[in-house]
Amino acid sequence: MTAMPEIVVPASSLVVLVGVSGSGKSTFATARFRPTEILSSDAFRAMVADDEADQGASRAAFELLHLAARRRLERGRLTVVDATSLTRSARSSLVALARSSRRPTVAIVLDPPLEVCLERTAARPGRSVAASVVRRQHDALRRALADEPSLASEGFASVHRLTDPDLAVNLRIEPRRTADTVRGTAGTIPGRTSRADRR
Ligand code: UTP
Ligand code: MG
Repeated sequence: MTAMPEIVVPASSLVVLVGVSGSGKSTFATARFRPTEILSSDAFRAMVADDEADQGASRAAFELLHLAARRRLERGRLTVVDATSLTRSARSSLVALARSSRRPTVAIVLDPPLEVCLERTAARPGRSVAASVVRRQHDALRRALADEPSLASEGFASVHRLTDPDLAVNLRIEPRRTADTVRGTAGTIPGRTSRADRR
């Protein structure tokens, strides 16, 4: 019997989920993180356009998502981005914004077999995604994992790839360290530490 893999996530980090439609990103996020920690591109599309599937609202949705991520990370709040993040530019803008708040970014790649993702998107009630779209996304993910420089060298503190369709994994959130919240260009910020330390 093989042990379940463990993912260690620093308390004040940005967690970027990476995966095709139907890979289980939202299911994983909802099961493992608090609702307020999750910034979902679908939720932000719904916020600006009343339709989580409105791709024309993506630009505005990501503007808000990035702003929300920035504001959370400034406060040292664990932040999870639930979006496909299949392009290098999508990932690099997230790594950059975490870096500007001096927070590490962890990538969790949800990579179950393509057939599982196709079955799940087809069976999912409500929002359907065309099989051709899922296949294209799957190709993009394969390239991201194979390309040199690979996803692992994009500035992530760590990259975890989960291939188990049931996403069986031990997730451990590292205890918040005081130094996480007080280190910065301006030095110690009085009054910040105790508030940011409370979870
Ligand atoms: P998700 O809706 O979590 O996928 O799961 P996703 O990656 O976030 O997809 P997009 O990008 O938003 O489109 C897809 C379907 O698979 C089921 C979920 O219940 C959902 O209907 N699922 C997911 C499982 O049955 N088991 C799992 O372990 C994960
Ligand atoms: Mg989702």
